[in-house]
Amino acid sequence: MKIMYVTSECAPFVKTGGLGDVAGSLPKALAAKGHDVRVFCPLYSAIDSAFTEKFTHLKNAYVRLGWRNQYCGVQEYQADGVTFYFIDNEYYFSRTQIYGEYDDAERFAYFSKSVLEVLPDLDWKPDVINCNDWQTALVPVYYNLMFASRPFYDGIKTVFTIHNIQYQGQYGREILEYVLGIDDAHFRSGFMAMDGDVNLMKAAIVAASAVTTVSPSYAEEIKTEYYGYRLDSVLRMNSHKLHGILNGIDVDLFNPMNDSKIFKNYGPRNPQGKLVNKLKLLELCGLEGDENTPVIGMVTRFVDQKGLDLVEAVLHQMLEDDVRLIVLGKGDWRYEQMFLEAKRLYPAKISASIMFSGDLANRIYAGSDMFLMPSKFEPCGLAQMIALRYGSIPIVRETGGLKDTVQAFVDYTGAGNGFSFASYNAHDMLHVIREACGVFRYNKDGWKKLVLQGMKSDFSWGTSADRYIEVYQSVIG
Ligand code: GLC
Repeated sequence: MKIMYVTSECAPFVKTGGLGDVAGSLPKALAAKGHDVRVFCPLYSAIDSAFTEKFTHLKNAYVRLGWRNQYCGVQEYQADGVTFYFIDNEYYFSRTQIYGEYDDAERFAYFSKSVLEVLPDLDWKPDVINCNDWQTALVPVYYNLMFASRPFYDGIKTVFTIHNIQYQGQYGREILEYVLGIDDAHFRSGFMAMDGDVNLMKAAIVAASAVTTVSPSYAEEIKTEYYGYRLDSVLRMNSHKLHGILNGIDVDLFNPMNDSKIFKNYGPRNPQGKLVNKLKLLELCGLEGDENTPVIGMVTRFVDQKGLDLVEAVLHQMLEDDVRLIVLGKGDWRYEQMFLEAKRLYPAKISASIMFSGDLANRIYAGSDMFLMPSKFEPCGLAQMIALRYGSIPIVRETGGLKDTVQAFVDYTGAGNGFSFASYNAHDMLHVIREACGVFRYNKDGWKKLVLQGMKSDFSWGTSADRYIEVYQSVIG
């Protein structure tokens, strides 16, 4: 099968969140199953020259977007059986940020149009195009409106994957003709419109042959008002083509047995090495504590989605207990300040690194006993799976992918792989944190088993990649 994968970020080249990880690992897994997989991504100036030096310039083209006619270079790179095409336009992608520019709608409309426009130049016709999130939501829209009737493009199918329904690409009606080059009739018909605005994600849900999202639970949740961010009715109407497929992680990349970033390698067969990582991590973070002190890790973007208001509500109570909290991340000023202030009050108990760092993240996975992820909603969540692989026991709220990957520990049977609470309630969270610390302190055998079970869990892409193939096959027919 010829699979075209379109994404606005892709690890290891450029990544701001989970989408980057998925785009960096799913195509690889699909290619390993014998498919012809090609990934399309913008050539941002942020991509390290260590990579771009290895790209080869393939084509020059021009792409029409509304009244504009824009240059479009294509650079190629091959790795792990996957072909990568980077779309080059310095005006759009040589910026200080990946997202958050004043003209994001235009930048990603340009990208979505370009990837379709260059296909004849590449002399490659995919069977199916899988695009992701609002940034590439215009791919199925442009395909249906402007490409489907051209002979070269005949019969290509589109699949749209939702990684987070909170970000939809909502813009005023005026951008439709002027920027996107789409006739206003498609606003009047309702196709491009939602709540009086242009809504790219909504249009993609309607236009694509199939819609997927990144866990079975989230696929159900987004059909409800609480989780749907106003698109729940659109998803209910399109539920016949909606599939929830759990993400995998790159198990070669996240492997404590050969991870060069951590202090000492370990795994299910030599789990003792984890303690070395814990003691070194405490030292690195300037915290007091020994092997009997529970260490809780958090690696997260500081946004409301991640449940940080729950942490805020009980942070002092948490830190009055005999625990250590090691936080890595950045985002909303309010939460950055909250952790820095806590650091001032409890310098020996909490460490807060306000930044993103892959190296420190892996050291936290390896050195912590527990991993806290109390998300308000979580389409899939990758950190809890990585944590489990590193033997850090997740404490999560039962939502989305967290619910699908973490089962609560049952004391008397030893079943489960973590701790969880259902309601979005700070004291419920505090209660399970204390429960986890209790098991850690007083049920050492139970805890050892938990850690071993975690390390052995299989979060590779295998089965999920098969599920994507099934969806692609079902739309190709
Ligand atoms: C988004 C979601 C996260 C998911 C990731 C990859 O970042 O918030 O839950 O794991 O996309 O699909």
